[in-house]
Amino acid sequence: MPPIVNAQEITKAFGANPLFQNVSFTISDGDRIGLIGPNGSGKSTLLRILAGEVTPDSGEVSFRKRTRLACVEQDSRFTSGATIRSVIESALDRGGVSGSERGARFAETLGRAGFEDLEAQATELSGGWQKRLAIVEALVQHPDILLLDEPTNHLDLPGITWLEDLLEAAAFASVIVSHDRYFLENVTTDMVELNRIYPDGSLRVHGSYINFLEKKEEFLHAQSKRQEALWTCGCGLLLRDGATRFPRELDSQALPDAWTARAGTLLSSPES
Ligand SMILES: Nc1ncnc2c1ncn2[C@@H]1O[C@H](COP(=O)(O)OP(=O)(O)O)[C@@H](O)[C@H]1O
Ligand SMILES: [Mg+2]
Repeated sequence: MPPIVNAQEITKAFGANPLFQNVSFTISDGDRIGLIGPNGSGKSTLLRILAGEVTPDSGEVSFRKRTRLACVEQDSRFTSGATIRSVIESALDRGGVSGSERGARFAETLGRAGFEDLEAQATELSGGWQKRLAIVEALVQHPDILLLDEPTNHLDLPGITWLEDLLEAAAFASVIVSHDRYFLENVTTDMVELNRIYPDGSLRVHGSYINFLEKKEEFLHAQSKRQEALWTCGCGLLLRDGATRFPRELDSQALPDAWTARAGTLLSSPES
């Protein structure tokens, strides 16, 4: 089977603020990808690009045929007057789920989520129960891939355990932005960090969060060794963000003058 999602060389900036450049990755069946990165690195924007809500400046996202994607944003906003039942009914309408199947989808997902009163107003639920409702709203559409943006922020411990069990048993792939390392350790099959310290804009490691931390350290250690070697022979440039580029890849427009001057010195007199 081809990957569900193939994202190639994705670049996005808001005005003069570049978020990420030429980031590539694939999402395959069975993947549960934990997406981490510093605040403002563009994690939420990347999820919105996958969901088709934001257009990248360049690059391409392609989907396997007939892929159904559902996205749970960081903050759920239900319209006033909406009930748990009406939220789910609307989601089933959007997913084109027909008569006989609807009852089964209702029972299957709501039963497991623990809602007791389907006529309760969505906006009057606690933050944790609104989050559960937003997740169930996505699940009843039977996605092939589910995107979750910081889902544990509003969930209490039983809610987090509910979500962990649900994701581990799921037939769909998922991408989960989270700062909750215990949650990530329990749930993910792969970790991706979006961070400009990496030459490719991101680092992906197959395995748990702890495994990721080990591999990240190894990667950064190897990268700093490479940079030392490059400084010594004068054939590479150490950029302010710590990434290494060879001269042919450099866009001098993107460098502050002082760095361009430093690079010039370095290139013209390798021994200095
Ligand atoms: N629609 C937008 N217009 C302008 N700037 C935006 C927009 N969306 C996000 N940003 C900016 O892009 C940066 C990255 O945002 P975001 O994707 O939310 O990062 P993260 O989720 O990693 O914290 C932030 O500085 C944010 O203010
Ligand atoms: Mg975010």
